[in-house]
Amino acid sequence: MSKSIPDMLEEFGIIPVIKIESAEDAVPLTKALIDGGLPAAEVTFRTAAAEQAIKNISAAYPEVFVGAGTVLTTDQAQRAIDAGAKFIVSPGFNPKVVDYCLEQNVTVTPGISTPSELEAALERGLKVLKFFPAESLGGLEMLKSMSAPYSDVKFIPTGGINAENLLPYLKFNKVLACGGSWMVKAELISTKKFDEITHLVREALTVMLGFRIIGVRLKAERLDRAAALARQFQAVFNLPISLSNSMVQFSDAFSLKKDDGVGAAGELVIGTQFLKRAIPFLQRSGIKTNSAIQGNCVELDLELDGFSVLLQEY
Ligand code: 3PG
Repeated sequence: MSKSIPDMLEEFGIIPVIKIESAEDAVPLTKALIDGGLPAAEVTFRTAAAEQAIKNISAAYPEVFVGAGTVLTTDQAQRAIDAGAKFIVSPGFNPKVVDYCLEQNVTVTPGISTPSELEAALERGLKVLKFFPAESLGGLEMLKSMSAPYSDVKFIPTGGINAENLLPYLKFNKVLACGGSWMVKAELISTKKFDEITHLVREALTVMLGFRIIGVRLKAERLDRAAALARQFQAVFNLPISLSNSMVQFSDAFSLKKDDGVGAAGELVIGTQFLKRAIPFLQRSGIKTNSAIQGNCVELDLELDGFSVLLQEY
């Protein structure tokens, strides 16, 4: 079963908002996004090249998640959909554009900045809305206050978001994804600085996913010996240890583990801020999971010199 558009938005977490002057730049730009690890784009109808750019992207990379932004009229919505846009974004709540997209059965995320606009969108059954212009409106604090009465609405804050302020938005459970142009500034595209775009996309993903090694678990032949060693360690260094039937933990970072289900040498634990976003990201890089998610962990189909790898949300 293919994933829903809101699920895709949530998995990507970051949607590059693009203003492109020349449709010829669309394919190398998309390659830069793919190379950065983020095959997603919202191409805004702020320029005459938008429609052709969406066509070029869809033709060259049908798997890329491309949508249209700054859609202000039903005519633009129709042209965007015909060009291959998988979703439609607008800066404000325009009932005509919203109704048109709903009739076409295409996901539309109109911008809202007040509870009244939010309720007008709710009236039409929309559950995913753009919060725009996020930072000028008061940022995350404003979004938290405004969204409090509406428990099942999710937001895509956009406007003034960058690598520095991205993370707190994403950590708010009502935020599906953040949109922004900071990785794909118009001048970077027109001057063909595609390497710089790849670099900025990687930086944004690094901030979002927050990968780090949080634990090394060596396989222990004899857990009773490991436990005795841990007690000695605690007595000498006065550091915390924790003992269980399957593991002797010397600290958060280092432990000895029984051999159930770990690699010949042991297990590495890689932390991430978002399991739901890290798993699809790794899948795009060819790394699959070996198990279903258990609690806040999933086993990766990856072995590093005898170490199995566990991905854990922190
Ligand atoms: C948009 O078109 O959605 C916004 O202009 C993007 O905002 P930003 O340029 O501040 O990221």
